Amino acid sequence: MTLVLGIESSCDETAAALVTGERVILAQAIASQDEEHAPYGGVVPEIAARAHAERLAPLIERVLGEADIGLAECDAIAATAGPGLIGGVMVGLVTAKALAMATDTPLLAINHLEGHALSPRLADPALDFPYALLLVSGGHCQILRVEGVGRYQRLATTIDDALGEAFDKTAKILGLGYPGGPAVERLAMQGDPQAVPLPRPLKGSKEPHFSFAGLKSAVLRAKESGEHADADIAASFQQAALDCILDRTGRALHEMGDVNAIVVAGGVAANRTVRSGLEALASARQLPFIAPPLALCTDNAAMIAWAGVERLKAGFSADPLDLKARPRWPL
Ligand code: KG4
Ligand code: ZN
Repeated sequence: MTLVLGIESSCDETAAALVTGERVILAQAIASQDEEHAPYGGVVPEIAARAHAERLAPLIERVLGEADIGLAECDAIAATAGPGLIGGVMVGLVTAKALAMATDTPLLAINHLEGHALSPRLADPALDFPYALLLVSGGHCQILRVEGVGRYQRLATTIDDALGEAFDKTAKILGLGYPGGPAVERLAMQGDPQAVPLPRPLKGSKEPHFSFAGLKSAVLRAKESGEHADADIAASFQQAALDCILDRTGRALHEMGDVNAIVVAGGVAANRTVRSGLEALASARQLPFIAPPLALCTDNAAMIAWAGVERLKAGFSADPLDLKARPRWPL
């Protein structure tokens, strides 16, 4: 049985998980830092790194204890090595290196985006390569053709803000606090998605990419005008964002050749409006739509451990102990 310990610390969740080659999450733990960052309206990198340093070792101990597994029983220790806030990434990676060295266990340096990209396969054994992936998180907004482990063709990215960032900025403008995505989604349920006229940047454009900066500015103007209820702004923003996603994804599908499914991953994949919009797009094209369970959408360590399992199974070798953490690391 393949068994991998996963460690995630690239943003504001400290997490550890034990995952098997048979897709069983034996144990997992996540410590969110929302309370620490909330007063600042966003993640403060220095505070995040310190919180990871305090919490990670006890979390790993808890996960191993819950599963009654000794580190030496693991086939590999997989840690996020980037992209992300470098202080936090280093805490997780250095911890993983120390554990790997002390127990003579292989180290696997995982790209956080690869964790998100492969997470749907942890939940769904039937999902085969290649698939179209919309990766939408706080830091990233991309459309990829996932062709295999380590084989990702990027068709689109954002030219300014990521989609999660647009949700977070909208939340800030509406005074909803941090983290913003879930709060905007909740408020939007009480609003009218057609009430506020908002732009759909790059919709219909020949170039493949995303843009959300103009949408965010329009949200700010709508709020400042005092003419609209906050719930209507939230609902109209969410609808505009969805229209952009559907337009861009439709365009990318045209370019990408055959795929087995349309898959969404990353924190914004937790949004129900986004999920149902993509589901309709997929069914119109007679493709299955796959979204990981909500808990696997936002940052977690099970997806990092699973990426480790996938890399082991695909025959990738261990990474060296002098491997560098990478703040930027395109897939
Ligand atoms: O993947 P993730 O946990 O962290 C990154 O790697 O960025 O994504 C976090 C992002 C945040 O921008 C958050 O506001 C957004 O995902 N998010 C949501 C929802 N839940 C999280 N956005 C919209 N609706 C949600 N329900
Ligand atoms: Zn993420």
